Amino acid sequence: MKVKIHRLFQYLLETTEAAPEAIVGFSLSQSPVLGDFLDDLDPAQTLDWNNRDFRGLPELREHVLRQAGLDRVCKAQDVLITAGAAEANYLAIMQLLQPGDEIVVETPGWPQAEVLAKAIGAKIIRVERREANGWALPLDEMRDAVTPRTKLVFVSNPNNPTGHLLQQAEVEELVRIADRAGAWLLVDEVYAGLEWQGPRAPSVAGLYERGITTGSVSKALGMQGLRTGWLICQDAELMMDAVILRENASEIMNIMGEVIAEIALRPGRYESAMLKAREEGAANLRQMNAWVDAQESLSWVSPQAGLIGLARLPQAIDSDAFATTLLAEPYRTFLLPGSAYDQPNHIRLGVGGGAAVNLDAGLERVALALREWETT
Ligand SMILES: Cc1ncc(COP(=O)(O)O)c(C=O)c1O
Repeated sequence: MKVKIHRLFQYLLETTEAAPEAIVGFSLSQSPVLGDFLDDLDPAQTLDWNNRDFRGLPELREHVLRQAGLDRVCKAQDVLITAGAAEANYLAIMQLLQPGDEIVVETPGWPQAEVLAKAIGAKIIRVERREANGWALPLDEMRDAVTPRTKLVFVSNPNNPTGHLLQQAEVEELVRIADRAGAWLLVDEVYAGLEWQGPRAPSVAGLYERGITTGSVSKALGMQGLRTGWLICQDAELMMDAVILRENASEIMNIMGEVIAEIALRPGRYESAMLKAREEGAANLRQMNAWVDAQESLSWVSPQAGLIGLARLPQAIDSDAFATTLLAEPYRTFLLPGSAYDQPNHIRLGVGGGAAVNLDAGLERVALALREWETT
């Protein structure tokens, strides 16, 4: 099995050294700094592993269940602390999918499941979210796509890259669809907690015995460098399979990731961090919506949740060419081309990152680049 590069990662690799002056596509809240945690850190904290549980610090696993609203439904043993939601997805996908199995994914969507499924030699069935329909997940098409041949359904809620949010009734319907076929249902909730339209959706790990919820401290809490996330599932065998695969990759969690995430998710501290993230995200999104409205050549479906969405370019502009031009002098502004999501006529806009991303300047430069593009 060989994992091949995806366009999204390829673009990030190609542009790592570009040193942009502004970023208009940041997908996470402004990051806290280590100093914010020093008062709660113990200088005698051992840098050995946690020495208590291969699934992760028990207190951290309790916090994970509480923030997902699962503390009365799931037990700490249903949670595995992982190196981000990415590792959680990886462990589940790799242990569930065999060559020839069918996996149903959404498009546009987070590419990880498709990349791994391709490497495994699984059959990929794509269900298309359409812009004309607000990027909603077409559940009728999902119903047709998920059959007894389906091993796994993978979606992100809120969706990366469109910010579409499945409401409770839709999540429940998705569970019925998976259950009818006996399929596993993995819902990646890495953007949960930043809902602008509607409440946070329920986590499938609490609704379905083959439901898998993944998430992390990377996005709403802005702590992606900690590499700390989770896999939640009530199926003991799947959880053990994930522990076994992880033992043969990174073995155990990094201790500082666990310790700092445990502090960040403590009751009280977590709520105030989320309040701040929501206030900043909402303010930046209002600014972005007003800015998109003012651009004759752009339109978008404003994200219902999360910090990113897709904006449509004029037909004649290719997203790769536009993103590359924008990154060069005189604009020096980074955004992700829609080609990273098989949407070559779109760009990904984002409102995260705080002051460091220089959003005001970035938006001015995107507007300028669009005007100049159209006049040449
Ligand atoms: C939908 C989705 N899942 C997973 C990840 C990876 O997140 P983490 O940093 O928690 O591994 C990302 C990162 O952008 C994402 O957008």
